[in-house]
Amino acid sequence: MIVLGLEASCDETAAAVVDMQAPAGNRIRANIVHSQIDLHRAYGGVVPEIAARAHLDWMDLVIPRALDAAGCTMDDLDLITATCGPGLVGGLVVSAMAGRAMALALSIPYQDTNHLAGHALTARLTDDVPYPYLLLLVSGGHSQLLIVEGAWQFTPLGSTIDDAVGEAFDKIAKLLDLGFPGGPAVEACATSGDPNRFDLPIPLKNKPDFNFSFSGLKTAVRRALELTKNPNDQDKADLCASFQRAAAASLHIKTQRAMAHCRQVYGRPLPLAVSGGVAANGTIRSRLDNLAAEFHVPLYAAPLPLCGDNAAMIAYAGGEQWNQKQELVWDRPPQPRWALNQLNQFP
Ligand code: KG4
Ligand code: ZN
Repeated sequence: MIVLGLEASCDETAAAVVDMQAPAGNRIRANIVHSQIDLHRAYGGVVPEIAARAHLDWMDLVIPRALDAAGCTMDDLDLITATCGPGLVGGLVVSAMAGRAMALALSIPYQDTNHLAGHALTARLTDDVPYPYLLLLVSGGHSQLLIVEGAWQFTPLGSTIDDAVGEAFDKIAKLLDLGFPGGPAVEACATSGDPNRFDLPIPLKNKPDFNFSFSGLKTAVRRALELTKNPNDQDKADLCASFQRAAAASLHIKTQRAMAHCRQVYGRPLPLAVSGGVAANGTIRSRLDNLAAEFHVPLYAAPLPLCGDNAAMIAYAGGEQWNQKQELVWDRPPQPRWALNQLNQFP
C-alpha cells in the first residue's frame, strides 16, 4: 500500500511517499520538506498569511519531487492523506484541498489526517512500537502527555495550561536576540553556558497532575535578564542553559509521574515515545533516556529529521488509520483546533 502524505499546517510545505508494507525503518520512500523559515525570519515568527501563500506556491512543487524521489508515479498511489488540522487554517486549506483534488482525479481514496496523530504515530512508523505506549508530544504549539492505545485511540493525561514548550524556547530566543526559530538557537547558545548559574523555577513541580506550564518560567528568565547589568554572551549562554535545564526538568518530572501512573493502570511500565520539534533537543532527549532506563523500558525518540513537521508522519498515520477504519470524508472543514481525543468530532 503506497501512501502519499501532504503537510502544510504551519511553516513547512511537505510531501512524502510511504510504503505501509515495508519493514519499520524502511517505509519512507521519499520525504520532501520545504521550510519557509527564511520568509518568516524577518518577523521573528510565522506570519499566517505569508505562510498560506507560500504553501500554495510550494505544494505543487513538493508533490512531484516526492513522487520522483520515491521512484513512482501518481498511478502507483493507493491512498492520499493530508493534514486537515490542527494548525493555521490557510495552510490546512492547501494540504486538504490538494490531497482531495488529486485523489478525486485519480479515483483513489482520500483520508484527512490529524497533525498530532502524525507526531504521535512516528514511533510506529520508525519502530513498530506496540500499543499501548506513553507519548510526550512537545512542539511549537503543543506540550502533551498521552497514552496511545491505537491509531484512533488517544487518552490525554495532561497538557500545558499556557505556553507550549517550543513556544517558550522561541520566546526566550527572541528575548535574548538569538534569532528564529528559537529552539535550536537556545540549545546552541546553552552549550557554552552554566545550567546552575540562575536558579529558575521548575514549573508545577509539586502539583500532582500531568500538566505543564511554561509562561512563568519565561517571565523568570526575563526578570533574571533585567537583573543582569549589560548582559554579555556568557550571561546569555548561562541563561539559556539554566532555562533549558528547568524546562527539561519539568518535562522529566511530569513524564516520570505519567510513567508511574501507567505502571499502576497497566500493571507494567509502558514504552516511552517522544516526538515533535522540541524532541530534537539533546538535553531533553538524554533526560528522557534516563527516565526510560529507570522504568526498564525503551525510549522511542523520533529521529531528528522526523521531529519537526514532515509529511512522512502524516502519510504513515493516515495509512494506519485507513487500514483500521476507512473514513471517506470529503467535506470536513479544516480544523484549526482538533484534539486527538476528538478525532471524529468536528463542526
Ligand atoms: O513540531 P514542530 O516542527 O512544529 C509544530 O508543530 O509546532 O515544532 C517546532 C518547535 C519550535 O518551537 C522550535 O523552536 C522547536 O520546535 N524546536 C526546538 C529544537 N528544534 C526545534 N526546541 C528546543 N530544542 C531544539 N533543538
Ligand atoms: Zn508539528
